Amino acid sequence: MESTGEGERRTVAVLGATGQLGARVVMHLRERGVDVVEVSRGQGTDVCSGEGLDAALEGVSTVVDCLHLATLSRKRAVDFFTTTARNVLAAAQRAGVSRIVCVTILNAREPEVHRWLGYYAGKAAQEQAYRAGPVPVTMVASAQWYELAETLLSQMRIGPLSAVPGMRSRPLAVDEAAAFVVDRALEPGDSATSADAVIAGPEVRDMAELARAIEEHRGGYRKSLRIPVPFSALGNGGLLPRGDVTTAPTRFEDWLRGTS
Ligand SMILES: NC(=O)c1ccc[n+]([C@@H]2O[C@H](COP(=O)([O-])OP(=O)(O)OC[C@H]3O[C@@H](n4cnc5c(N)ncnc54)[C@H](OP(=O)(O)O)[C@@H]3O)[C@@H](O)[C@H]2O)c1
Repeated sequence: MESTGEGERRTVAVLGATGQLGARVVMHLRERGVDVVEVSRGQGTDVCSGEGLDAALEGVSTVVDCLHLATLSRKRAVDFFTTTARNVLAAAQRAGVSRIVCVTILNAREPEVHRWLGYYAGKAAQEQAYRAGPVPVTMVASAQWYELAETLLSQMRIGPLSAVPGMRSRPLAVDEAAAFVVDRALEPGDSATSADAVIAGPEVRDMAELARAIEEHRGGYRKSLRIPVPFSALGNGGLLPRGDVTTAPTRFEDWLRGTS
């Protein structure tokens, strides 16, 4: 069990504990001896309706929000992330939670970025809702993950083609994002600042090129069609970090070699 050094014992609730990121956050927390409460609908708690949330947060000191809704609809994304953030804040306040760590997407809050993607508008609304709440919040802003290129490959299919936007960012492996989130979650309570903790990968890469390389590496038959987006923030550098950033070490090609 992890303690803060002041005799306080930590229990961390991970919302979205079965997801790509959440499952790894749970694993890293457990490796560090922290008590974890896993939260997802599959595990009996619906953060959107609030059902089971009070019981899940009983005795919890820190909440890590790794929730996600797969949608391109601006309205659905904004509704989901606003509702879940408000429900978490209210339940966290009732339970005496001392800090919430919200995982967000690097620069998603910038209007020139989220006007191109409804989902990113949802993340901007989530950040706003959390920042307006009564519980201290640490925002962890991650660049896109290498694993996102795989998701995009399976999303916009046209026959044997997969359309993937030529988004330029500094992607990283989700596991390195998870380890960074855990470091932030275990920081002493009084070190919460209003600044984001930002993590990005070691190189600027194009998502469509990563998708093509993944498909080739897997021996897949699908051809990926790069959709140029040079005049939007997605393609013109709007997704790149601007200030202080922690750089995750693993390069894409090394990550790819390590996957099956
Ligand atoms: N993909 C990227 O490149 C990237 C980059 C930076 C940040 N992020 C952020 O990272 C976060 C996690 O993404 P992910 O890809 O790991 O998500 P994911 O794999 O789709 O997992 C989502 C998790 O949320 C849970 N969930 C969904 N609706 C819920 C509800 N109403 N109540 C309780 N649990 C619910 C799911 O479990 P159930 O379905 O069982 O409920 C699941 O455990 C997202 O906020 C995303 O914006 C992603």
